[in-house]
Amino acid sequence: MHIKSVYFLLVAFAISALTNAQQNIKNTSFLPGKVWYDMQGDTINAHGAGFYYEKGVYYWYGEHKSRNSLAEVGVRVYSSKDLLNWKNEGVALEVSKEASSEITRGSVIERPKVIYNEKTGKYVLWFHLELKGKGYEAARTGVAVSDSPVGPFRYLKSYRPNAGVWPQNFNSQQKKTNSNESSYKWWTKKWSEALVNGLYVRRDFEEGQMSRDMTVFVDDDGKAYHIHSSEENQTLHISLLTEDYLDFTDTWVRVQPGGQNEAPAVFKNGDYYYMITSGLTGWDPNAARSFRARSMLGPWQSLGNPAKGKGAEVTFNSQSTYVLPVEDRKDTFIFMADRWNPKNHQDGRYVWLPVIINNEGNPEIKWTDEWNFNEKSYSTENELGGK
Ligand code: DGJ
Repeated sequence: MHIKSVYFLLVAFAISALTNAQQNIKNTSFLPGKVWYDMQGDTINAHGAGFYYEKGVYYWYGEHKSRNSLAEVGVRVYSSKDLLNWKNEGVALEVSKEASSEITRGSVIERPKVIYNEKTGKYVLWFHLELKGKGYEAARTGVAVSDSPVGPFRYLKSYRPNAGVWPQNFNSQQKKTNSNESSYKWWTKKWSEALVNGLYVRRDFEEGQMSRDMTVFVDDDGKAYHIHSSEENQTLHISLLTEDYLDFTDTWVRVQPGGQNEAPAVFKNGDYYYMITSGLTGWDPNAARSFRARSMLGPWQSLGNPAKGKGAEVTFNSQSTYVLPVEDRKDTFIFMADRWNPKNHQDGRYVWLPVIINNEGNPEIKWTDEWNFNEKSYSTENELGGK
């Protein structure tokens, strides 16, 4: 045999051995911030994630990212029985080839979240939608449906929520106040007082309220809520969805007016609803916040930064996207967050850490380099794992 052919065969053998090794990858622990391979050996590409559990299987939905942050492909879905090893189930919601579609390639599709409607038997996917070529100006929320958790999802429409409806916690004076938005200079004391007093709620009353970072939450009684960052990202809104989960009812509240929260993640433990959010620093990490309430419609009590220890001031270099209650494990929750990489979005990483509710009833998240469910108590000795 020619020496070149031998060389070629050796290289081919090495590549195939490597690929097989990758295909047999079996993850045995969570490694926050490290590259995470799916069961086929490819990097998991599902950012700003949402999760859904059914019949022993978890589904992970997330933004397919390319180098930039625009939607080139759509929403990806993976499935897993153990939360560690994930099978690529393909694209759940594909971007449209039609230039006139709201979800055309090059639009912004972020933070996809899936819930199941018992009454209609449909899987409902909500996501933050920005229209192509308009940056983050549109501030809309989109909805799609499917008969299967892995899709394909059919895009229905998008909303500016709660058009023509006042929030429940708005008084008659706030409804009547006549304020001209352009007379306020951003970041001044007057502006901040005016916005707390509903400046943007009144401005957007007819068109509908802005909706950027969002999540959805289904309560034990089957009621579903849409939680989103509104009023120029200064205030959170929580809205009750219709029985089919496809539209907004007239029930909604403002939460933490002027509090500058985004990236909301909601979970319930016992009698309390908890919410973890971030502040507003674009793709850069900042200190997380946490809140507690007896009802989804509030009032929400502020509990401070749930992250503890070194790196807590930047949430261990990540931003919340979801808190997952682990099935059949009482009081076991996973804080799921994105470590964004705006230089190359597809290399953004996933930071999953245990959340515990401490004796004072506050959520706590500590860094650990590696953990799994077999350990009696999660090791928190290892401090922030760096970038
Ligand atoms: C922060 C948000 O949480 C992300 O989802 C994304 O919208 C970026 N801002 C865009 O700058």
